[in-house]
Amino acid sequence: MEVFEVTGGRQLNGTVRVCGSKNAALPILAATVMAEDVCVIEGVPHLEDVRVMVEILRALGAQVDWQGDTVSVDPRNISSTDVPSHLMRRMRSSVFLMGPLLARFGEVRVSRPGGCVIGQRPIDFHLRGMRALGARIEQSHGYVRCTANRLYGDHITLDYPSVGATENLMMAAVLSDGVTVLENVAREPEIVDLAQFLQRCGARIENAGDGTITVTGVHHLGGARHRVIPDRIVAGTMMIAAAAVGGDVTLERADPHHLGAVIAKIRETGAQVQVERDIIRVTQAEPGRAVDIRTAPYPGFPTDLQAPFMALMTILRGTSVVRESVFEARFKHVDELNRMGANISVDGQTAVVHGVPRLSGATVEASDLRGGAALVVAGLAAEGTTRVEGLHHIDRGYEQLDTHLRDLGADIVRRAV
Ligand code: UD1
Repeated sequence: MEVFEVTGGRQLNGTVRVCGSKNAALPILAATVMAEDVCVIEGVPHLEDVRVMVEILRALGAQVDWQGDTVSVDPRNISSTDVPSHLMRRMRSSVFLMGPLLARFGEVRVSRPGGCVIGQRPIDFHLRGMRALGARIEQSHGYVRCTANRLYGDHITLDYPSVGATENLMMAAVLSDGVTVLENVAREPEIVDLAQFLQRCGARIENAGDGTITVTGVHHLGGARHRVIPDRIVAGTMMIAAAAVGGDVTLERADPHHLGAVIAKIRETGAQVQVERDIIRVTQAEPGRAVDIRTAPYPGFPTDLQAPFMALMTILRGTSVVRESVFEARFKHVDELNRMGANISVDGQTAVVHGVPRLSGATVEASDLRGGAALVVAGLAAEGTTRVEGLHHIDRGYEQLDTHLRDLGADIVRRAV
């Protein structure tokens, strides 16, 4: 087992380059199975979830070469449409293979993803949408099997703008017959990035990034080269860390347009945020003031930054309120933050955070990815040493978080115990 040992109280100063987005890279890698030629994806972060996706692509028969931040996928020899269940269990995002494999090969079998620590996370919108496109769905013994001789365009309205369902259905629609109109869909930057990759392969997609997407089916997709967008959640986490401990941090290769709601909230605490092209600079000289956040689908405040932002709130002057509207159980980090001296109470999907003058280092355990990042932010701001366990959660979404923070002057080490 590995842990982070973080000794708090040091300001962060310097420059960090933001890596490519995990949540953009995963569906794009899944989409390569629809292409009939080699796809080259650049800016792919070295993360456990990406490694699992690469293993799945190889298990399906694709030839995958990963050098530096570039992954080349040759999907021409794919011979299986069965996503291995041991890999599926390691990563929920393997559900993204449903749409592409069904569209290209007329069948797919995945093991049904279970609930997870942040909520139930059902896939009913995905399945209902696939059915509307003409798929037959059978569910038994923990597996979901979708089959279709052909998929046919239809008008589909999601009950909620689910990111994963929007991506899966957009991918399935690309190789369907006729026109698919997807309504009440997610508008996240990762959707737009996936659409741009698919368009480079020859797909006809209009209005990705709006609430209604129109896809006109084509018969084939070719290969393409594509660079994924910067990871807005990693960038946001570094900005929040800078606001929590003070200092002067510059992020390079960020996309400030994707972070509007986060930048606004960080400014509201009193920190300075300057933005220029792909650069974001956060400076914070004194403890900030309390602010409220409500998570919402993009362009609202991202649920993935709720936990790190709550770590910042624990030491803001005054009382902050967090309303989590996207996932029903995303407060697992609260008990751990309270162990560090925070004063947070939870009622349903609302958390009330009374700011305290300082946190104190403790042994805490990450139980999910973003909750783990919150504990690191808290450790950076706390007095004394914090030991963060459960690093495998954090490693799923942050490439070398400790190295980047050390480069900025933080006292954080990864230790095997
Ligand atoms: C994606 C992101 C995740 C982020 C989330 C919300 C990836 C790999 N993951 O997850 O980091 O936290 O968006 O921004 O991109 N829902 C249903 N039925 C469905 C699908 C979703 O009820 O079929 C519900 C979920 O339980 C949740 C809400 O819709 O309450 C949003 O989920 P969704 O947007 O689908 O999240 P993911 O795509 O799983």
